[in-house]
Amino acid sequence: MSLSAFTSRYLSALEAEMQAVVSASAPTVRDLYGYLRYHLGWVDDRFRPHRGRTGKRLRPILCLLSCEACGGDWEQALPAAAAVELLHNFSLIHDDIEDRDDVRRGRPTVWALWGVPQAINAGDALFVLAHLAMLRLSGRGVSAETVAEALRVFDRACLRLTEGQFMDIRFEEKEEVGLEEYLAMIEGKTGALISAACELGALVAGAPADQRDRLRAFGRHLGLAFQIQDDVLGIWGDPEKTGKPVGSDLRSRKKTLPILHGLQHDPALRALLARPTLGEEEVGEAIRRLEAVGSRAFAEEQARRHIDQALAVLEAADLQSPAASALHDLTFGMVERAR
Ligand code: IPE
Ligand code: IPE
Ligand code: MG
Ligand code: MG
Repeated sequence: MSLSAFTSRYLSALEAEMQAVVSASAPTVRDLYGYLRYHLGWVDDRFRPHRGRTGKRLRPILCLLSCEACGGDWEQALPAAAAVELLHNFSLIHDDIEDRDDVRRGRPTVWALWGVPQAINAGDALFVLAHLAMLRLSGRGVSAETVAEALRVFDRACLRLTEGQFMDIRFEEKEEVGLEEYLAMIEGKTGALISAACELGALVAGAPADQRDRLRAFGRHLGLAFQIQDDVLGIWGDPEKTGKPVGSDLRSRKKTLPILHGLQHDPALRALLARPTLGEEEVGEAIRRLEAVGSRAFAEEQARRHIDQALAVLEAADLQSPAASALHDLTFGMVERAR
């Protein structure tokens, strides 16, 4: 069975699981759920059914594949997969406020449409719904002990994610950011949840401790590679494909990997990015400088290194099944991702 066959088998069940958790409540708060349903890609900005793009659903797919690869029943892991995707979407609603980004997945962000205060509330609601989604594991025959362990893994990842987001914002003001600090930041903001998604799949499958450890390590490397590529796509990506505008990271002085590398290797770029505001022309100039000094190639090489490490960990886990090959294909395909 191919990766796309697994994905199409999972996706409608996953959406149904998430819809069951994010369902409208009393009429007085109907719009709050409308904001969430909009962000999740189910409705348009007037809450009418929407057939456009949703997120890639990478984390739940990883969770369900990891469960199957460890010999588990993917349907049992659906609540964990839904929880991880809802948590990811909570983090994006708040991230767009923090990053002052008004476009995501090709549409206006929640705060850009309904204001920062209500976007904070929408994010808070989704954070809690993600936890309630995880508790639905009990309804699928998962033991109380495993549910408690799943919540522990999940909450640790949530905390790491927030720590990573804290570092990301702190680094906007910090002139010197080292590679180690950068890696700690992305391991938190992105690696932790992707890693937890894989570990949770193994946990629900009842995998032995060493297999669970390997899936966690696999997800960590995959998450690091994923974020480094997100950094590259934030500068050189095609906005039609990424659904995000180019140049926002440069304007906010984000310490993404290419920018970090450029600042270390090109004093003229450092001077350019120190200007109080950056117009179209300065952003274009900065991108040309990054390219010339090899910052894109450096970041792509780092991403490839983590992909290779993820593949090596997967190999060492010695999982012989179609789901394990699908995990391998997904990881391998990450090298060329454009969205
Ligand atoms: C975006 O994640 C934020 C990062 C951690 C890089 P995704 O690229 O997985 O977002 P969607 O859900 O597919 O839009
Ligand atoms: C990704 O943040 C991590 C989280 C949202 C927790 P970024 O700010 O790097 O991602 P994009 O580019 O906005 O999706
Ligand atoms: Mg952002
Ligand atoms: Mg951010």
